[in-house]
Amino acid sequence: MTEKKLKGQVALVTGGSSGIGRAIAIALGKAGAAVIVNYASSAASAEEVAAEIRAGGSDAIAIKADVSREEEVFSMFGEIIQQYGTLDILVNNAGLQQDAPFDEMTLEQWQKVIDVNLTGQFLCAREAIREFLRRGLQPERSRACGKIICMSSVHELIPWAGHVNYAASKGAIKMLMQSLAQEYGPRQIRVNSICPGAIRTPINKAAWETPQAYQQLMTLIPYNRIGEPQDVGNLAVFLASDDSDYITGASIFIDGGMAVYESFADGG
Ligand SMILES: NC(=O)c1ccc[n+]([C@@H]2O[C@H](COP(=O)([O-])OP(=O)(O)OC[C@H]3O[C@@H](n4cnc5c(N)ncnc54)[C@H](OP(=O)(O)O)[C@@H]3O)[C@@H](O)[C@H]2O)c1
Repeated sequence: MTEKKLKGQVALVTGGSSGIGRAIAIALGKAGAAVIVNYASSAASAEEVAAEIRAGGSDAIAIKADVSREEEVFSMFGEIIQQYGTLDILVNNAGLQQDAPFDEMTLEQWQKVIDVNLTGQFLCAREAIREFLRRGLQPERSRACGKIICMSSVHELIPWAGHVNYAASKGAIKMLMQSLAQEYGPRQIRVNSICPGAIRTPINKAAWETPQAYQQLMTLIPYNRIGEPQDVGNLAVFLASDDSDYITGASIFIDGGMAVYESFADGG
């Protein structure tokens, strides 16, 4: 049985109804945390994730909220505090793509990605930090007063033609995360980013669903396999637990080596 490193702690995973968020929610639940599974539209999937966590012995509920809407984020946090008393861990995971060649990109496509991927992380991090400061450090819960994990991407580093809105949102997450780590380190709040490469989820199905696409993808990945959501779940548990207590302000790449530029493997 996995050690219950997060026993007694409360975690919110935004976009917990699918892909990476789903795997993180389940992994945090296995580690003993009570988990709030946030979703925007996929109620049935979010309820399934919550049921799976409860079946594993941890508390879990699903809450609908569009993270890009301030009033919905307020009401989600209100419900969490009312039901669980406080929050220890925020996984700012909700995100999406709206791809287009830059000269054809509409303001709506640009704005949607910035609203969910960046403003959504701002709104949730702000509410989480307000709650961490209100509660204060309680050493019996954790060595940190609170932990925030921002879901970034290898595209906070690697430019991505055809996905300028997405790459811009993830580049901005890097500075959001580092500036928060700097501002709230003295209050024992840890803030870090996970930067996945290609993880097998619905967001990038076209890149792995056929053997040809998968083979093409492998030209970008030195370790020669796609990442699985569980890979990211394991890392999130580490970053949420006291095992990583001296880590803050870090972007942790989980990408099978994608960020070491496979295309230069033969000398460029
Ligand atoms: N998969 C990869 O290879 C990869 C690589 C790098 C980074 N990432 C990042 O990892 C995160 C998760 O991606 P994924 O691959 O797991 O995608 P996914 O399977 O498409 O899941 C996206 C999740 O975000 C939720 N969501 C979307 N808009 C939302 C909103 N406005 N408010 C609340 N929740 C919202 C969705 O909920 P509903 O279904 O209810 O709408 C869903 O649970 C994203 O931030 C993405 O940028 C993924």
